[in-house]
Amino acid sequence: MKNTSQYYTRTAQMLHWLMAAIFIAAWCIGFYSGNFLSYDVDGSFKGQVITLHKNIATTILFLVMIRIFWRYTHPVPALPDSMSPLMKTFAHLGHFALYLMLLALPITGCLFSWSAGHPAPVLYLFEIPRLVQDDPDLLAIVKPVHIYLSWFAGLLVIGHIAAALKHHFIDKDNILRSMTRQAK
Ligand code: HEM
Repeated sequence: MKNTSQYYTRTAQMLHWLMAAIFIAAWCIGFYSGNFLSYDVDGSFKGQVITLHKNIATTILFLVMIRIFWRYTHPVPALPDSMSPLMKTFAHLGHFALYLMLLALPITGCLFSWSAGHPAPVLYLFEIPRLVQDDPDLLAIVKPVHIYLSWFAGLLVIGHIAAALKHHFIDKDNILRSMTRQAK
């Protein structure tokens, strides 16, 4: 759905920035645990850090469903005419890939935890009901998938931030403002 307004709705803006903060926090905590902590040296501290990673990251699964619903039921601002059709296609592909990562990372993360025999907790409040039991064969697949997807998603987010900053400071168009302001 296209928009005559130059700005995303306030709800879309809130979802965007809330999910950005959660995603970046979950990413950094997961990366720290995966690459800088080991059970041999850090024991229960690593366990606590992974638990924190999961409790934060599972919220993305619920928020992305609300966000996708909102995206398809509310108009979004058109990209500026100053962008070439090729750049617009890249922008749309990039946004699609980001949505895909917002779904794929929590899903593979949950499968990773369940197949290793652990829960998928949400905000230390409740657990997502287990869809698979302990399964070493599944673990051998979903563990590397989660890790490689997380690196890919990290690069996508860096590209997304770089593009937003380029639009704002070099092209001087309205793209970054469309996610931060409302029409007066
Ligand atoms: C948007 C959501 C998520 C992001 C951005 C994310 C990101 C990451 C990253 C960057 C790593 C480290 C990869 C590496 O070793 O280099 C990781 C590891 C991990 N993630 Fe996630 N993840 C997400 C969701 C989840 C969920 C929902 C769960 C489980 C419920 C989960 C479970 C794990 C586990 C168990 C590890 C291994 C940590 C370790 O080996 O110390 N992740 N994740």
